[in-house]
Amino acid sequence: MQRLANKRILLGVTGGVAAYKSAELIRRLRDQNVDVRVVMTKGSQQFITPLTLQALSGNPVSIDLLDPAAEAAMGHIELARWADLVLVAPATANFMARLAHGHAEDLLTTLCLATDAPICLAPAMNQAMWRDASTQANRDVLVKKGVKMFGPGSGSQACGDIGPGRMLEVDELVELSSAMFESQLLTGKRVMITAGPTREALDPVRYISNHSSGKMGYALAEAASEAGASVTLISGPVHLQPPERVDRVSVNSAREMHDAVHENIQDCDVFIACAAVADYRPMDVSEHKIKKDTTLDHDELHLILVRNPDIVASVAALQSKPFVVGFAAETQDVLSYAAEKLERKRLDMIVANNVSLDGIGFNSDENAVTVLATNLEETLDQTSKPALARKLIELVVGQMGLRTSE
Ligand code: PMT
Repeated sequence: MQRLANKRILLGVTGGVAAYKSAELIRRLRDQNVDVRVVMTKGSQQFITPLTLQALSGNPVSIDLLDPAAEAAMGHIELARWADLVLVAPATANFMARLAHGHAEDLLTTLCLATDAPICLAPAMNQAMWRDASTQANRDVLVKKGVKMFGPGSGSQACGDIGPGRMLEVDELVELSSAMFESQLLTGKRVMITAGPTREALDPVRYISNHSSGKMGYALAEAASEAGASVTLISGPVHLQPPERVDRVSVNSAREMHDAVHENIQDCDVFIACAAVADYRPMDVSEHKIKKDTTLDHDELHLILVRNPDIVASVAALQSKPFVVGFAAETQDVLSYAAEKLERKRLDMIVANNVSLDGIGFNSDENAVTVLATNLEETLDQTSKPALARKLIELVVGQMGLRTSE
């Protein structure tokens, strides 16, 4: 269930009596460290108050599509992008009908149209309404569009009837939501990922480094693990916990990262170099703290830097090489520099990352990239690093398929 930790679930609550269970659902999701944001329809507020769901989720509850204050905080498009998963529980027959027909007259239906995240519905209604041909037709349309149905369950209903239409129990909904983050794309594969910065020592207290937080690389490790791979994460110094089931090897310098990579690379199927590795290190590391030399008549301190090994290129040069993915962090001519690195380093794929833009790249929660490979140029729009990582893993799997079938 750790798969749910740090995921962003947008919980839609529509107007059915099972809305009272949404409160417990939020609590269970929060127990799993899920970041929950709630969107309520007008009808649902007859059954449970926004204040209750706000208190339980720890986030403001969104209600109106045309609320300038809410839009200024987190607008509907931002909410749609923010979500890793949209879960509508309970989902009424009316909501299913509106979603099946592409309506966008309130916040929840609009979000569902605008999001790229998977959408899951937990239907809850009277058994006759569920059995009705219109509801079944709407269900079929939704399933065809890729919407997942969690239930409904069968049993005694609030109205006294017995039959299908009960919303699944909260524990089942949490379990099914968790399963949504596990694909089997990389089952049986070994994946190695480098992440974070390196530190190149000048003396015992100082080093040269960069602003990498490790968030992108750790998100990739989690996405690869969720896809069924056995993952080794070679990490520079960062403040992140390793994802569950990921084997982390911690290093400091580029040379340590290079050695750790080559000690573990055997039998790897995929290597993803996301780390921001220092290209150069000081030639000499002073044994003691470098002191200010007050006897000199100038203020400069001259350092001689020498080149570090190129880790990703060294993996791509192996005789029995994995599928090698590099990143290119660029501030100008992003695509042409990335294409040049793809070729020079003999990579199978490169992820071009414009690190000059605010809100993406180094030390941010979101990213936007363009992926280049033979016969591939695909832009992935700005979204959370975990969501982007999942898309990148899908692209890697797609390209690996191409390579093996050549
Ligand atoms: O960690 P975050 O804060 O989440 O930020 C993510 C990121 C911006 C660090 C990430 O998205 C990214 O762009 N990583 C690559 C950073 C980088 O060093 O890029 P580069 O263009 O300098 O290097 C090109 C490629 O060669 C990279 O795959 C890099 O890992 C690799 N490299 C570079 C130098 C070296 N000596 N060895 C290498 O393997």
